[in-house]
Amino acid sequence: MAKQNDEQPATSTAIDAVPPELAERLRALPVLASPVDHMEQKRAIVPAARRAEPVPAEGADGLFTQSWFPICLATEVATGSIQGFDFLDGRVVVWRGEDGRAHVTSAFCPHLGASLEAGDVVGQRVRCAFHHWEYGTDGRCAKTAIGDTPPPSACLFVFPSMERYGLIWAFNGIEPLYAVPRFPLAAEKMLIKTIALPDLMPVDPWVQCCNTPDIQHIKTLHRIHFDEDASNMQWRDHSLMYEFEGFFDSGTAASWQVGVFGTSLYYQSAYLDGRWFGFMVPMGLVRPGMTRNYMVLAVEKTGDTAADREFLEQCLLTEVGIVGEDTHIMTSMRFRPGTLTRSDRTLGHYFKFLRDYPRAHPSAAFIT
Ligand code: FES
Ligand SMILES: [Fe+2]
Repeated sequence: MAKQNDEQPATSTAIDAVPPELAERLRALPVLASPVDHMEQKRAIVPAARRAEPVPAEGADGLFTQSWFPICLATEVATGSIQGFDFLDGRVVVWRGEDGRAHVTSAFCPHLGASLEAGDVVGQRVRCAFHHWEYGTDGRCAKTAIGDTPPPSACLFVFPSMERYGLIWAFNGIEPLYAVPRFPLAAEKMLIKTIALPDLMPVDPWVQCCNTPDIQHIKTLHRIHFDEDASNMQWRDHSLMYEFEGFFDSGTAASWQVGVFGTSLYYQSAYLDGRWFGFMVPMGLVRPGMTRNYMVLAVEKTGDTAADREFLEQCLLTEVGIVGEDTHIMTSMRFRPGTLTRSDRTLGHYFKFLRDYPRAHPSAAFIT
């Protein structure tokens, strides 16, 4: 055994190269005082294959569900202006002519592909910034700046669109297959507040829509107790609605009519402390697997604006709290229609609804 020279350092000189802050942090890390050494399994446990049929993701095979999707807040596009937004894995523009009506069209100019969001609005037309070709509300090129005749193919894709409850909406298709629901009161009889939630949700809108027919989670996660009545479920081609009378675990009564429309909208007509309010969560499809959520809150005007406003804010906070209970689950899950039980029968029905749901992408060649 070699004898240690008294002048030789006890440890390697490499230790001198470790920055003192790093050395300090390493010293501060805990040691395992009683490390566990135990083997539970020698072989992996592999569950039997689950046979649930998947629901196609948005964008699978280049197709998207044919639903109404919110594109932006109505306030984001002023009269005479144009803004660009991501939609269906492509780009669209929302613009308002001098009459104030909003239009949703493909973003890219058919001439050489400049994005119209760099252009401007002239009267009732949108003008490309590059060579100043102008497009009307029918999407057609009405004139070129240089005087050449516009080719017939110089045309934007014009989405079926509308403005309602503070949002600009576009339908993924040639013709809408259903109507966005209205609250039971006329617009002028309601005080409405519409907000865009700040964070995108990393799931398709339909995944969030599955919350509504997911009766188990309403009882467990949201702690609302009621007796499910399958005969109460009103299935239509593009929607589901049902009503329930129950109570929160706090004892407060809950009397709700809830539903999903298409693959992108949660609808609720409910009472809090005996007073009606309406609530929607429209879900924008920014790109596959990425959703922009909005919230629309409506209360009836009573003539006491301050009290109406206070009630509206109270309802909004209640809903933000309930939606917040779902948020951290939605942001971390890998959603799959997996192993269902008897209490999941409404959810199972919605999975079938989703598998059969019409899918298309007629704007694909224009917005990408
Ligand atoms: S690219 Fe738009 S007018 Fe030429
Ligand atoms: Fe929920």
